[in-house]
Amino acid sequence: MTRNTFVISGMMAALGVCAVIYSLSTSEAAASSWPVVRSPIQKDVAIESKIDDWLAKMSVEQKVGQMIQAEIKSISPDDAAKYHIGSVLNGGGSWPTDKADGPLGAWLSMANLFHGASMDTGDGRLAIPIMWGTDAVHGHNNVVGATIFPHNIGLGAANNPALMRDIGTITAREVAVTGIDWTFAPTVAVAQDARWGRTYESYSSDPKIVAELSKELLIGLQGHPALDNFLSEQKIIATTKHFIGDGGTQAGDDQGDTVMSEDDLFTIHGQGYVQTIGAGVQTVMASFSSWNGDKLHGNQYLLTDVLKTRMGFDGFVIGDWNGHAQVDGCSNISCAQAVNAGVDMFMVPEDWKAFQANTVSQVKSGEIPMARIDDAVRRILRVKYRAGMFDSGKPSAHELAGRAKLIGHDNHRAVARQAVRESLVLLKNDNDVLPINPKSKVFIAGSGADNPAIQSGGWTVTWQGRDQVSRVMNPTSYYKNHITIAQSLTSAVKSAGGTLVDKTDMQSADVAVVVFGEEPYAESDGDLTSLNFDLAANKDFQILQDLKAKNIPTVTVFISGRPRGVDAAIDISDAFVAAWLPGSEGGGVSDVLLDNEYGFKGRLPFDWPASSDNAATTYRYKRGYSYVSSTQSGR
Ligand code: GLC
Repeated sequence: MTRNTFVISGMMAALGVCAVIYSLSTSEAAASSWPVVRSPIQKDVAIESKIDDWLAKMSVEQKVGQMIQAEIKSISPDDAAKYHIGSVLNGGGSWPTDKADGPLGAWLSMANLFHGASMDTGDGRLAIPIMWGTDAVHGHNNVVGATIFPHNIGLGAANNPALMRDIGTITAREVAVTGIDWTFAPTVAVAQDARWGRTYESYSSDPKIVAELSKELLIGLQGHPALDNFLSEQKIIATTKHFIGDGGTQAGDDQGDTVMSEDDLFTIHGQGYVQTIGAGVQTVMASFSSWNGDKLHGNQYLLTDVLKTRMGFDGFVIGDWNGHAQVDGCSNISCAQAVNAGVDMFMVPEDWKAFQANTVSQVKSGEIPMARIDDAVRRILRVKYRAGMFDSGKPSAHELAGRAKLIGHDNHRAVARQAVRESLVLLKNDNDVLPINPKSKVFIAGSGADNPAIQSGGWTVTWQGRDQVSRVMNPTSYYKNHITIAQSLTSAVKSAGGTLVDKTDMQSADVAVVVFGEEPYAESDGDLTSLNFDLAANKDFQILQDLKAKNIPTVTVFISGRPRGVDAAIDISDAFVAAWLPGSEGGGVSDVLLDNEYGFKGRLPFDWPASSDNAATTYRYKRGYSYVSSTQSGR
């Protein structure tokens, strides 16, 4: 019998929580050795006893209701109470009013209504507080005016664990202002093929970077017992997602099939779960994807035997958006297989009523054992107790509720600006064109220079960063207080005594800055068959060609959710910066482009492809590259 020993220490030690060593006999382990991970939040006998009491008095309808999460646009607070619904969510681009830039207070008002209804014991109902989940994945990004951080790919380039904890703390505070309890973050995807439309939600193709950064974000979001702030009123419940192997699908096909050995599945895609469970994450979201052809939402071995029994996860598993319907024999309204496999709460945005009725029938028929239902409800109530939801009163009574000044607070935006600075990766700098002297004559151009929708990418106020039907990018009004790269560069050059020149006078420029790249997308809408970026008819590339013909030193700032094959653009530029999806603080880009104390710190979190017919195989720069590190010894 060989033994595997895992040392889970890292920031835990820094937290004053001694390094925790687990050993695992592998004789009974599966082909790989999933570790036993002890959460810093151990079971509380008093809480478990209270849950015993609840289970004893709940009807099957009430129990199944707790296992359902409905979308706020498809359920009223009264119906949520009437059907004993345990949770609601606002999907990407879903707001409490029909306007994105509606009153901020509408969020808290709606949270109060859902909470009040769930605590109303009229008609013999049970007072079990409802929990509201949202995708605050790069700040409180559904809310106009919130601080919008760089998407995860940029944070992976920055690779600053302490900064991640600050980002989590800030995100939790801004979410708490709106009365929401829970964010579906961190994503611990370890994207292996950048053709995947969700690559920008992944920190890196390196499991170690993903594991460390997600753990720190989590501690910022939820707090930690060693910091004595675990799930305080300044913190929110978090979700590690999407379990497991979301970033490993063949050809980067979103919701596709991750085909690999169990050892590789653990080694490549499991490290974020080890670290975040070890830091106390309370929910895990099941992945739409499959493992070796088996949909995760129906995979009892991974969801129950591995995640819960072997690794010891004692929070609850939330399904993804009707993800259960992708299990063979299932639909939006019925999936006993997923219940039995170990999904505890089902994200059933619209069809929640039928799903509840069918699941109740499946329990009554014995297709779903009551013990499974009781286990799921126990896990859900355990998390609600740990989050203090039974005692904390209505959302508007919470410490940060309604404190609108915290949304997009200058202190928060300063941290986001630092994150932007540290996320930038310099790929090329011929003739030391960078840094730019702010006193010079600067020509700014490019479709991404003054475009907040391109700058923030998907999952920003709307799901796709654009209208899903017309595909028109979000209006500028959705980006209140955002600073674009052009705006910040212009003000910095002017205040330094420099000059901005326009297109008609570009010949007189000392340097040009051209900003362009990908337009926003999310999930499968962003899937590609090739990473090649078509420059042939691209107007931004034509500007680069024009500048080259005029011998004007040119800096290209490429905005994208992933590396792309842009050899011709890199070759024609004197300097080339990968800026990823910076978010609200374009000032972080001008800070580094101009001659001041910052400098380039980012390193490529993914390999950068060469331009070719299928750029997913040949690379121009490898992960970890930066022009800075390649030219300065000892870095
Ligand atoms: C989406 C995503 C998931 C998100 C959920 C709720 O389809 O897969 O990451 O948390 O739905 O918006």
